[in-house]
Amino acid sequence: MGKGSGYGKVILFGEHFVVHGVPGIVSAIDSTTDAEVKKAQSGINVKDERKTAKGYSEEKRLQQLESIERMLKAMGIDPKIALDIWVGGTLPGFSGLGASAASSVAIARAIAQELNMKVADEKINQVAYEAEKAYAGNPSGIDNTAATYGGLMWFRKNMAGGPDKVEHLSIEAPVEIVIGSTGKVANTKAMVEGVAERKRKNPQKYNTIFKRAEELAYEGRAALEFYNLKKIGELMNENHRLLQEIEVSSKELDLLVDVARKQGAYGAKLTGGGGGGCMTALTPGKELQGKVANAIKNLGFEVLSTKIGVQTT
Ligand code: MEV
Repeated sequence: MGKGSGYGKVILFGEHFVVHGVPGIVSAIDSTTDAEVKKAQSGINVKDERKTAKGYSEEKRLQQLESIERMLKAMGIDPKIALDIWVGGTLPGFSGLGASAASSVAIARAIAQELNMKVADEKINQVAYEAEKAYAGNPSGIDNTAATYGGLMWFRKNMAGGPDKVEHLSIEAPVEIVIGSTGKVANTKAMVEGVAERKRKNPQKYNTIFKRAEELAYEGRAALEFYNLKKIGELMNENHRLLQEIEVSSKELDLLVDVARKQGAYGAKLTGGGGGGCMTALTPGKELQGKVANAIKNLGFEVLSTKIGVQTT
């Protein structure tokens, strides 16, 4: 049996903007999707035992099958191969946490092990990028890169098609965050397409927003390097405002952001594709983290309390 894992992630700065070549900052979290793969008699049989938002697995089933087809092709494996694939792990299947990329990385690693193929991380990352197209249409590559390598990183898509710019960042110490799930399954592909279309229709408005998003990424990087947590929080708040302006937030995301800020979070924003999915709040220290997490739980939303900047690699 072959086994593999991939990390989940939160985007601190730049989701959606990264698709268009703006830099972003992403942190892997210490929750993984795990996969086990065994050669089978016939077909591709997926048993998905992840804890998910209601309807997540059903909604993503076709995209998951397409992602596996894409993966086999990218790995040069006969598409008629028969495999039993199990997917599980500690990363919940909530939209926004890179669950699709984490599962692609996990499955690709498990397939490689089952078939005795030596596949380097760089190739796993490329394979997962191809698989991500099934979920995101035109992905930037930030999710699969975080899922493959872990850690905290600066990511800039190479719009000319060459290797993306990926730099590992380190911070003084990991910082507590709270992730709140709206419980709504989001269609990343539709969200990414929506932004591209609005950008095409309103170039002036969108260019101004995209320029500020780029500055924010640089300011966010400096704040992380100086470990200026108040500043990181303020910039996250501003990033959320930009995401509202490009129409990827939602009523529930705005509510979670508000609750987190009112409880004292240093900053809060949607994370990932938006339109549902998750919010992340910067909550340094266990006490603040617990306070924000409880307030969100008390409203009936699911919560994941974790840290950014944990050395996963
Ligand atoms: C999804 O986690 C992040 C998006 O920017 C899509 C992508 O970068 O591929 C919305």
